[in-house]
Amino acid sequence: MRTEQKVWLVTGVSGGLGKELAKKIHESGDIIIGTVRNEEDKKRFELDFPERSKAVFLDLADTAAMSAVVAESLKAFGKIDVLVNNAGYGLFGFVEEATEAELRHQIDISFIGVWKLIKEVLPSMRKRGKGHIIQISSRVGIAAGTGGGLYAAGKFALEGMSEALAQEVAPFGIKVTLAEPGPLRTDFFGRSVVFTAEEIPEYKSAVADIRERSRKVNGTQGGDPAKVAAVIVEISKLENPPLRLPFTQATIDSLEQKISSFQQIIADWKEVAVSVAY
Ligand SMILES: NC(=O)c1ccc[n+]([C@@H]2O[C@H](COP(=O)([O-])OP(=O)(O)OC[C@H]3O[C@@H](n4cnc5c(N)ncnc54)[C@H](OP(=O)(O)O)[C@@H]3O)[C@@H](O)[C@H]2O)c1
Repeated sequence: MRTEQKVWLVTGVSGGLGKELAKKIHESGDIIIGTVRNEEDKKRFELDFPERSKAVFLDLADTAAMSAVVAESLKAFGKIDVLVNNAGYGLFGFVEEATEAELRHQIDISFIGVWKLIKEVLPSMRKRGKGHIIQISSRVGIAAGTGGGLYAAGKFALEGMSEALAQEVAPFGIKVTLAEPGPLRTDFFGRSVVFTAEEIPEYKSAVADIRERSRKVNGTQGGDPAKVAAVIVEISKLENPPLRLPFTQATIDSLEQKISSFQQIIADWKEVAVSVAY
């Protein structure tokens, strides 16, 4: 017996992980609504997925448009079972190199846009007493490294909000999952990474040449986005999906390093921490 046909709303299906997700969702027999940003991608999506699909225009910077996007999706298929916040880009550069406008844009796309879309989708999920919100976070949402602090700021914000959201919506039967991939072989480093306009040469010699490092990563990432997509589709069928879902050995390494650094902090500072009590 086939389980209920689900309706998915996935942001950023023009390529990369979003496109792999669309493929797996479509293959599973579910309905896929994908967001795109131009007419060409809309046509291609509808050609690739001729039935049980719909492409809608959405730029995550345009929070005012989100209510209409969700209304259009609900009108087309009557419900949204799974929202996947996948679309995004990465601002890379040393913290001091960013301008305020560059950082604000990163936060607008990685965090404010995602928050707004969730806010628009939740009323219908709460009414139905079910739903699943899957956030494409990152290994960088767990641990940040040099040159990645600006991108990490958006993913850490997403992680914090999602951790609270999971507790807030649990009584309504709604689940939240943070997918945390390490490097996946998509075109992210080719087209979705932007660098700060300013380059402070001292950092390059004292810390790292992050522009060169990013260029080298492109095309050699160890993670297969098709496999990640397949796992996400399987996870969506679980009664109790995990809050955190790490992908790739790199993310496991980051989790382990984070745990041991927290353990060290407790060992070194617990006495001081508790000493401030009245
Ligand atoms: N690849 C990795 O190594 C990796 C690792 C961890 C996490 N992630 C996360 O995975 C997600 C997908 O990335 P990817 O690797 O699949 O990269 P990708 O192939 O470059 O895809 C990025 C997608 O996001 C869309 N997008 C970018 N800015 C947008 C905006 N302002 N409004 C709406 N859509 C926008 C793009 O649409 P256009 O075609 O219109 O630009 C594209 O569909 C991102 O959230 C990324 O942070 C990636």
